Amino acid sequence: MSGVANNIGATAVAVSQMRAVESARPDRLINDPLAAELVAASGIEGVSSVNLATVEAVPMLSRIYAAVVHRTRFLDDHVIDAVKSGCTQVVILASGLDSRAFRLESDARFFEIDLANLFEFKEPVVAEKPVMAASRTVITADLTDPSWTTALTTAGFDPSEPTAWIAEGILMYLTDAQNDGLMSEIAGLSATGSHLMFVANGPGWLADEHSKQLKQAVDSAGYGFQSHLDDPKAWLSRFGWTVCEAVTLEEVGYRLGRVETVSDGPAKSWAVCARR
Ligand SMILES: C[S@@+](CC[C@H](N)C(=O)[O-])C[C@H]1O[C@@H](n2cnc3c(N)ncnc32)[C@H](O)[C@@H]1O
Repeated sequence: MSGVANNIGATAVAVSQMRAVESARPDRLINDPLAAELVAASGIEGVSSVNLATVEAVPMLSRIYAAVVHRTRFLDDHVIDAVKSGCTQVVILASGLDSRAFRLESDARFFEIDLANLFEFKEPVVAEKPVMAASRTVITADLTDPSWTTALTTAGFDPSEPTAWIAEGILMYLTDAQNDGLMSEIAGLSATGSHLMFVANGPGWLADEHSKQLKQAVDSAGYGFQSHLDDPKAWLSRFGWTVCEAVTLEEVGYRLGRVETVSDGPAKSWAVCARR
């Protein structure tokens, strides 16, 4: 069993399996051919056997599956748009088993940041895979320690160039103070023309029974959610960003034809894109 099984890296494997399940569908909304291989290599018991039938039979799994597929597609579309608009660098924060550098053809240079145990597992699996971006550089760093910015620039990131930043499946695991710190650090590295895209929990994230079950599951696994965002526009304006889109993942699914109705009430999740 790989080192990712022992901590929050296991969440990266679980979301990768959701992308693998979606990629196997004829009506897929995303295509991540590496996902299944990465999950299999993790050796985490039971994850690679999760399929569409399993997902559909368990409401909490259906919820996670939909959220992962919708967020991946939202972020794919926005990162493609950001590169078309002039971003020459893409930085994927807490990249986990993200395979965008291998599946999105792009002239931009891609940087992935995550913890050491994640890359110790991931790099041997992807070593021979063709990169579709201009380049792919991995940076081992802890995003709660501000020195990650030095590690990134030392690896060749140029703060004078417009950048597309992706934070997928990480902000909810950090505290409000850690997220504020991260946003300040990103702002200090973001030239005019940069884009920022992320997903976060919303104020209604604990409103229903399945969300409570999900919280219980992640809490008991030892990496509970620590924060949610009430108002993306107000938060991001503190760091010099103008929001171009802030919608719920349910709304993203609705637009993609996967969700029949969008519920009322406070947002359970946010999918956000901003520019400066
Ligand atoms: C739920 S996974 C999401 C991975 C990926 N972004 C995705 O959506 O597929 C969370 C990732 O955050 C990484 N992570 C957690 N805390 C971190 C930290 N303090 N610094 C850097 N990475 C971190 C974990 O190693 C893991 O890969």
